[in-house]
Amino acid sequence: MRSSTLTWASSLCLLSALTSLTSPVLAVKEHDFKKCDQSGFCKRNRAYADSAAATGSSWTSPYNILPESASIKDGQFQAVILKTINDKGETVRLPITVSFTQAGVARVTVDEERRQNKDIELRHNSAARKERYNEAEKLVIVGGLELDKTAKAVGEDSTSSTTVQYGPDGQFEAYIQYSPFSVEFKRDGATEIKFNDRGLLNMEHWRPKVDAPEPKEGEEAVSPPAEEATWWEETFGGNTDTKPRGPESIGLDISFVGYNHVFGIPSHAGPLSLKETRGGDGNYNEPYRMYNLDVFEYILDSPMTLYGSIPFMQAHRQDSTVGVFWLNAAETWVDITKQKIKGNPLALGAGATTNTNTHWISESGLLDVFVFLGPTTQDILQKYGELTGYTALPQESAIGYHQCRWNYVSDDDVKDVDRKMDKYGIPYDVIWLDIEYTNEKKYFTWDADKFSDPSGMGERLDEHGRKLVVIIDPHIKNAPDYDVVSQLKSKDFGVKNKDGGIFDGWCWPGSSHWIDAFNPKAVDWWKSLFKYDAFKGTAENTFIWNDMNEPSVFNGPETTMPKDNLHHGGWEHRDVHNLNGMTFHNATHLALLSRKTGELRRPFVLTRAFFAGSQRLGAMWTGDNQASWDHLAASIPMLLSQGIAGFPFSGADVGGFFGNPDKELQTRWFQAGAFYPFFRGHAHIDSRRREPYLAGEPYTTIITSALRLRYSLLPAYYTAFHRAHVAGEPIIKPLFYTHPNAEAGFAIDDQFFVGNTGLLVKPVLEEGKDTADMFIPDHEVYYDYFDYSVVPTQAGKRTNMPAPLDTIPLLMRGGHIFPRRDQPRRSSQLMKYDDYTLVVTLPREGGHAEGSLYVDDGDSFDYEKGQYIHQAFVLDGNTITSSSAELERDASKVKAGAWLSAMADVHVDKIVVVGAPSEWAGQTEVSVTSGGKTWTAPIDYTPASGGRAAFAVIRHVGTAVGSDWEVTVV
Ligand SMILES: *[C@@H]1O[C@H](CO)[C@@H](O)[C@H](O)[C@H]1NC(C)=O
Repeated sequence: MRSSTLTWASSLCLLSALTSLTSPVLAVKEHDFKKCDQSGFCKRNRAYADSAAATGSSWTSPYNILPESASIKDGQFQAVILKTINDKGETVRLPITVSFTQAGVARVTVDEERRQNKDIELRHNSAARKERYNEAEKLVIVGGLELDKTAKAVGEDSTSSTTVQYGPDGQFEAYIQYSPFSVEFKRDGATEIKFNDRGLLNMEHWRPKVDAPEPKEGEEAVSPPAEEATWWEETFGGNTDTKPRGPESIGLDISFVGYNHVFGIPSHAGPLSLKETRGGDGNYNEPYRMYNLDVFEYILDSPMTLYGSIPFMQAHRQDSTVGVFWLNAAETWVDITKQKIKGNPLALGAGATTNTNTHWISESGLLDVFVFLGPTTQDILQKYGELTGYTALPQESAIGYHQCRWNYVSDDDVKDVDRKMDKYGIPYDVIWLDIEYTNEKKYFTWDADKFSDPSGMGERLDEHGRKLVVIIDPHIKNAPDYDVVSQLKSKDFGVKNKDGGIFDGWCWPGSSHWIDAFNPKAVDWWKSLFKYDAFKGTAENTFIWNDMNEPSVFNGPETTMPKDNLHHGGWEHRDVHNLNGMTFHNATHLALLSRKTGELRRPFVLTRAFFAGSQRLGAMWTGDNQASWDHLAASIPMLLSQGIAGFPFSGADVGGFFGNPDKELQTRWFQAGAFYPFFRGHAHIDSRRREPYLAGEPYTTIITSALRLRYSLLPAYYTAFHRAHVAGEPIIKPLFYTHPNAEAGFAIDDQFFVGNTGLLVKPVLEEGKDTADMFIPDHEVYYDYFDYSVVPTQAGKRTNMPAPLDTIPLLMRGGHIFPRRDQPRRSSQLMKYDDYTLVVTLPREGGHAEGSLYVDDGDSFDYEKGQYIHQAFVLDGNTITSSSAELERDASKVKAGAWLSAMADVHVDKIVVVGAPSEWAGQTEVSVTSGGKTWTAPIDYTPASGGRAAFAVIRHVGTAVGSDWEVTVV
């Protein structure tokens, strides 16, 4: 949900401000958010880059490794970098570690040596911790750090550089040059990534604050040099940031050699392929910013920051992807420029015509960068996932449709919506309550007049397997009669202000305090608040939405907390800002896991703010978008970016949060949303009611069929989520991921593949359109999903397809097999024991197709104990087989629990073979073999006609979905 940048004087004022929010012309108040030159450290680092560029080849980076300090042992290179800080040659010592992991990831960490210098100590005139923030690893990294002890220095002994060979088969090399310091990362001998090649490494070292001398009689005071003006204090929008530690920023240039596309670093409302940021035609003038903020009515095609940040970037060229993960939770900016390669680019590999140069700038903390050398996007995502964790396997209902609005006003209202969805045959799984369900914005309470019987409401929803999500935010109302805030205060679990008192700010409830979820004791306390006997009215089908956790503070700088606020351990908010939302999300996630002893259900928690690692905890959405066509269009690249940044469980508010979509827009949005990994309709309090049944005909019917399409594809989506859970795969995949050598597709971000199904979707994103130009990345055959027509395509070209309002441009690529459940029902839970349909698409040549199904109870953690079905399907010529998708797994050894036992009666009922070979014509029966038995099943073959492919339907296959079987057609 939303917020505003207004400073609320009272909640009355808040109400009137909200109701005046009906203007159709909505635009972010850009001046409420910093530009680079309004953020002291960004401005200084950009100026540093400019002076380096202006100096040209005579620019020398003042960072040099002290040769005698360098050593390599057990997978780690260690040394001290000396930074020369003045003309007198004085230096500061910056310890550097380059670690090489068993997975072949390199990690460069640079710290600043703590000095026992009285001047340095003196300037810390606050409670702030006197270290560079070094705990991001503790919260973000969950594995993958085991060192590759075989990584070794190669080449001649040298006092000027070290070359380390590492990675699988010693395929990778890090060439560490001492003077000036730089690193080149190579794969198979070719340089892919360079650090400090342009000499922009900048670690603003700690220094004593020197007060300007008192001016003598009759003399003017000397003001400090302009670049020092923001060292010790900085003011923006009337808020002053006292900076007890002074300047501490880090900057580094990272160059991708021969790469012309970079992707990632969400969340930004812009294209998937990131733009250049230093001006020029069609480029941005500002760096991409990552500083989690509640950006009210955000604008599109912009490098402005949004609600969450993942500082993970990939560079791509034909058949090669490399990446970097910048582990820093402070405010971060990234400049991107591209440079045509002079000379013979072919030496760098096919398609290498351009270098992409990036410049990373963070306000404080360690310099800590992970380097991935690919060569595939998937390989990088897998390794990034080993480090930061994979997507939690969601409950199946969490990937169904969610019906939300600000607000369903009473329990009767909720029941009424529930009833009407059923009446119109519209499936949905979860209904949501925004802040108005509470008693005066006091979380963990209910408005007793409007929600007099929350338990009854929950039970009613449960009758059709449905769930309730209620919002719980991190701001705790500062009210005298509110037990939660009394506890927060007495236990000292609140975030502190710079003076060490409890921080007080404004949010929905008015004056509020914020839980400090960096404090493990505060997390324990938070968990206690969600127990069923503490949060009365909630039940096992109640789940949680964490909003405003950037955190949003209406009267704070840029609508967030002052940077000099203090968190657990004495760290400044500045150091941990981008982690803040994740720690709160984490606390809520853990709370749902401990509502009662032996909690059996998986939690579901939606978050607005996020960081690298948040994928372990739940879903995200893209925040407060608008009911406009361009916001619908923007949602696709935003979600694709999330997917390739390791956090694929993502969605955008269907219909648009602010404003009122017309019926065409609403319909098209449902058609697009039906493919979002997280699929939720949501609306602002001032917008008109827009539950799908209100749209009227033909819209309600069209929306309903989009929803039913999603529900029939839930087995395919759930299988894709499993791939995200075990391997970090995106749920919806951009073309550069699926077709890494199809250059013309790299920047395409308005269409995508779903998991490994071969389903290619291009939602209609423009008003009044009744055709779609779908880009076809390869020579494979593509069938229309709905009528099996063979779409006339040309590899690397666009194909124009009809797309009237009732049609979603959706193709099936030849060579795939995907599962469906075709019986429409009210909710996913009611489909749990329905039979399956397999759709097989024949490729252009070779008669081979593949796919898989992963299914478990969709609810508990029993899958961790082997209670799941995971089958691989293969069509080879005239035979279709199902066998275990995991070679090492013997499913027959798993003692079946209740769910798995029940699945013995769930069948693959139907197999549809699109593009069926003509030899199958005239067949009326196929033979089915499973568990040592053989029987026959009927097959109907329909020959090709007009543009439609031949297809065959095998019915009553009768094999248990979890069993191995073989179907032979002829
Ligand atoms: C989540 O909370 C637990 C318990 O306090 C803590 O150990 C863990 O580091 C936290 N993780 C994050 C991401 O905040």
